[in-house]
Amino acid sequence: MCGIVGYKGFKKASKILLDSVRRLEYRGYDSVGMAVLGESGIIVKKGAGNVDKVNNELFFEELEGSIGVAHTRWATTGEVNNVNSHPHLSNNNKICVVHNGIVENYQEIKKFLENKGFCFISQTDTEVIPNYVQYFIDNGESFEDAVKKTLRIIKGSFAVVIMSEDDGIIIGARRGSPLVLGIGFGEFFLASDVPAFSECTDKVVYLDDDEFAVLGDDYHIYDFNTGRENFKKINIINWSFEQAKKGEYEHFMLKEINEQGNTIKKAAEQSIELIREATDLINGACGVFLVGCGTSYHACVSASYIFSKIAKKHVNVLLASEFRNYEHFLSSNTLVIAVSQSGETADVIDAVSFAKKHGCRTLSIVNVMGSTLTRLCSLNIMMNAGPEICVLSTKSYTSQLAVLTLLAYSAVDKFKQAKKLLVDVAGKVNDLINNINDDLKLLAGKLKRVNDLFLIGRDLAYPSALEGALKIKEVSYIHAEGFAGAELKHGTMALIQDGVPVIALNTRGTNDLLVNNIMEVKARGAFVIGIDSRNNELYDFFIKVPGADIADPVLMIIPIQLLAYYLALAKNLNPDQPRNLAKSVTVK
Ligand code: M6R
Repeated sequence: MCGIVGYKGFKKASKILLDSVRRLEYRGYDSVGMAVLGESGIIVKKGAGNVDKVNNELFFEELEGSIGVAHTRWATTGEVNNVNSHPHLSNNNKICVVHNGIVENYQEIKKFLENKGFCFISQTDTEVIPNYVQYFIDNGESFEDAVKKTLRIIKGSFAVVIMSEDDGIIIGARRGSPLVLGIGFGEFFLASDVPAFSECTDKVVYLDDDEFAVLGDDYHIYDFNTGRENFKKINIINWSFEQAKKGEYEHFMLKEINEQGNTIKKAAEQSIELIREATDLINGACGVFLVGCGTSYHACVSASYIFSKIAKKHVNVLLASEFRNYEHFLSSNTLVIAVSQSGETADVIDAVSFAKKHGCRTLSIVNVMGSTLTRLCSLNIMMNAGPEICVLSTKSYTSQLAVLTLLAYSAVDKFKQAKKLLVDVAGKVNDLINNINDDLKLLAGKLKRVNDLFLIGRDLAYPSALEGALKIKEVSYIHAEGFAGAELKHGTMALIQDGVPVIALNTRGTNDLLVNNIMEVKARGAFVIGIDSRNNELYDFFIKVPGADIADPVLMIIPIQLLAYYLALAKNLNPDQPRNLAKSVTVK
C-alpha cells in the first residue's frame, strides 16, 4: 500500500503536497517523492526513507509551481531505493505518475514498449504507465485519450495520479485501490484518503472503480471504459481536520488509545432503524459469516462469543483470506458481515466480492466512509471512530466490538440494553487509563528486554489474548502469542521457564479455571501479570480493570494497548510506524 496525492490550484503545490503526503505516511513510509510542474517543466525529487528524512535531504518546498503530485511508498514491486521511489517519468520526461497498487501485466507491457525503443530504469511495475501514455501521445492521441487507453490495458488494482507537462493538467484514476477527489475554491486535490487534504476542504467526491477525474480549470469525471461522463455527488465530510492531528499527544497511537472513551460511545450511537435493518438480515439468514483480517478478525472472534452468549446464535468466523474455501456453504440466504477499519483491505474486499458472486447478502462494519467496502456491501454500519492514523488498530477495535455487541443484543431485541452497557463502559475508559498508566510504564521498563511473551485468557478473554499479542509484537517486535488458557499445556508450555512473562487476562466468569492455568505456568517459573478486576496472590504484577461482564473485552484490551505503546517507547521505536507494516493492506 502507498499514499498518493495530486494538487492543481493556485497555491504553492510543494507545500500542500508535503503536508498531504505527511498525513498519508500511515499508508507506507519506506520512500517518498514529489514532482511539480514549474516554468522549466516537471522537476522530480525523491528518495528512500520517511518524509522527514527525505525532506531534510531534498527540501521539497524548493519546488515552485501550482500543480504537482507526490507519493509515500510501501514497496511491493522493486526494492526500497531512490530509483524505485515514485514519481516515475516517461522517457521524454513529460508524463509523470504516482501509483498505488500493482500492474499485474507490467512485464508484458514492458516488453512491448522495449520493442518500440523505450528504456526502463527502475524495477517497478509503475514505470510502464507513463511510458505507455507517452507511446499513445507519440502516436497522435491527446493526453486524456492516451491515459484512457493505457488504463484500459493495464491489469490489476491501482490508483494513479498522472501529470502532463504539455497540458498542465492532472488525471486521477482508480480500480480497486482508493482515490478521492477534494474540491476547494479554485483548487482540486486527489488523494488516497481524505485526511491528506481535509485541512483545505471538506467537499469530497469518492471515485468509483474504472473512473478517472480530469483536473484542469474545472473537474470532470469519466468512466474510462466507455468514455461517458459521470456526474457525481459531492459529500461533506463529518469530522474535523483536528481529529487527524496529533494535538497534545506525542504519537497518534497514544492519542487514539485515549480517544476510546469517546469513540466507544460514538460507535454505540447507531440509528435504531439501521440496526434493525442489520438485525433483520442476521435473523433472516441461514448461515452468518463474520470475516476480517488482523485486529478486525479478532473483533469477529470476540463477537462469536457474544452472539453465542447473548443471542444464542452461532456465527461462523473466518479470516477473510480463507473465506473462499467455504464456497459450498454460500447461497442467497447467507449473510457475510465484513469487519474492517479501512474498508480497503484486499483480502476483505476479495471475500465480499466472492460472497456477492455467490448471491450472499453483505453487511459491513467499517470506519472509512466511501471506502471500497462501503460501495460493495448492501448495508454499512459506520464505526464512527474518526480517522485512525497509527498503523496499529486501537480505537477501531473497541468500536468494532461495540457495534458487534449492539448487533448481538439487537438480535434478541435488546438494543437499548446494549447501548446502556456500552455507554457505561465508555464512561470508565478515562479513569481506567489514568489509574493504570504509570504501572504500565513501569511494566514496560521491566519487559523491554524479553524475547518472548505469552497471553492467556478463557472464554471472552481468549480473543483479547490474541489481539493483545498482535498489539505487542507489531509495535515492540517482542515475540508474543495469545492462547486460550487451557491450550498452553498442549505444547507451548515447553517454552515457559524462569522469568518468561505470561499475561493472564482474567474475568469473574473465568477465574476458577484460569487460576489452574496460571498455577501451571507459575510452577515453571513464569512471571505472571494479572489483568483482572481483583488481585490474586498468584500475580507478580497486577493491573486492575473494572469488570464489565459481556463488555469485558472492550476494557481488557486497553492496558495491553498501553503496554505495547510503552514497550515501543522503552525500546526507542516509533509506535506510529512499525517496520514492514502499512495501515491497510491492499495486496492479497
Ligand atoms: O483496515 P482493516 O481493519 O481491514 O485492517 C485489517 C488489518 O490489516 C489490521 O487490523 C492490522 O492487523 C492492524 N495493523 C493491527 O493493529
